[in-house]
Amino acid sequence: MSKIVIKGGSNLHGEVNISAAKNSVLPIIAASILSGDKCIIDNVPMLEDVFVISNILKSISADVTIDKKLNKIIIDTSNISYCDPCSELVKKMRASFLIMGPMISRFGGFKLCLPGGCNIGTRPIDLHLKGFAALGAKVNVEHGFVEAKAKKLIGNKIYLDFPSVGATENIMMAAVTAEGETIIENAAEEPEIKDLADFLNSMGANITGAGSRAIHIKGVKNLKGSSHSPICDRIESGTFMVAAAITKSKIRINGINEEYLKPIIAKLTEAGVYIRCEGNSLIVDGNRELNPIDIKTMPYPGFPTDMQSQVTGLLSTVKGTSIVTETIFENRFMHVMEMKRMGANIKIDGRSAVIEGVDKLTGAEVKATDLRAGAALILCGLAAEGKTEVIDIYHIDRGYVDIEKKLKLLGADIERVNE
Ligand code: EPU
Repeated sequence: MSKIVIKGGSNLHGEVNISAAKNSVLPIIAASILSGDKCIIDNVPMLEDVFVISNILKSISADVTIDKKLNKIIIDTSNISYCDPCSELVKKMRASFLIMGPMISRFGGFKLCLPGGCNIGTRPIDLHLKGFAALGAKVNVEHGFVEAKAKKLIGNKIYLDFPSVGATENIMMAAVTAEGETIIENAAEEPEIKDLADFLNSMGANITGAGSRAIHIKGVKNLKGSSHSPICDRIESGTFMVAAAITKSKIRINGINEEYLKPIIAKLTEAGVYIRCEGNSLIVDGNRELNPIDIKTMPYPGFPTDMQSQVTGLLSTVKGTSIVTETIFENRFMHVMEMKRMGANIKIDGRSAVIEGVDKLTGAEVKATDLRAGAALILCGLAAEGKTEVIDIYHIDRGYVDIEKKLKLLGADIERVNE
């Protein structure tokens, strides 16, 4: 079992380069199924989740070549057939359900085991299924599997009860070859949705409005192979912004998109962090007195749930009372218990964490309960007095490229220990 060991108290300095977005590249890899041809994805973050989805594609006969040196994936989906993907792999990751939409579009149906809940909430898939049904698929959930069958998919107007990222992506991918026009209303507006639509359009799809609340998809006969370079990871960017703030350091973060970071910049600025944008870089200076703030997670362009745990960690070191309210996932405060081991003073009241800033956190052995929780604990460790050991770091490896190496380059005293 590997762990990350941090000796807190180092000042960070220098520059860090941000990788491409995990949450863009996963649906993009799934979308390659639609081409029945060769797709090339550049600038791919070499992450555990990327390997899992690639292996799922391989299990349905796609030819996937991963070039770790060039950060490139070449996917040939011409030999994919309607067969069972490896259920063990599918259950490993929620995002594996994103192959459902493309498979229904290409083969008129598909059967996939239910992805199941996870540490941050139950995460149902009802909105995905309602969308497939609205396009004319017969959807059946039985014995732990979802099966969708459609003689022909026909465009429809689909209103999502909630702007789910995954449902928007899955329905968009199913609808690209449906007859006529599909309109997804109350769609998720996350930048990763627009990135996926850009990739689909480069394959020959006809999608407009992605990134807004209403997405229009005019069905096309078929799609062709294409290449794409996914957008930068706004959550990794935000995580390094918090790294600077929690260690009272000044760093430069390269390869960002200021637009995507607006909600994070706004709240950290409100807390007193100095942030300046220079083209595709951010200068973040946390070496100042910070104030407590209140935050509520919301669908984009609101404050991202994927930054909630990191900011909770930061606010636990900021004098005064802050309130962080989680509205997206019902169980995303598992990190609070771990932060308390480090001396944080946080009480959970329903969907809110009431945080009383403490003078100092102290190093402890803590467990990464999910990906972002793990990152948040590393950040707390950077600021804590003494040694912090973060265990169960496989969660962190699912979504951060070389996080300890990047922090080490910035001057952190951090090590991965393989036991
Ligand atoms: N929901 C439903 N029914 C559905 C779908 C979603 O009730 O059919 C609910 C979920 O249970 C949740 C809320 O809607 O309470 C939001 O879920 P959403 O579908 O938007 O999330 P997702 O597509 O499963 C993606 C990211 C998550 C990120 C969320 C929210 C990927 C691969 N994952 O998940 O990323 O937290 O959107 O922004 O894109 C992470 O990177 O750490 C991560 C968890």
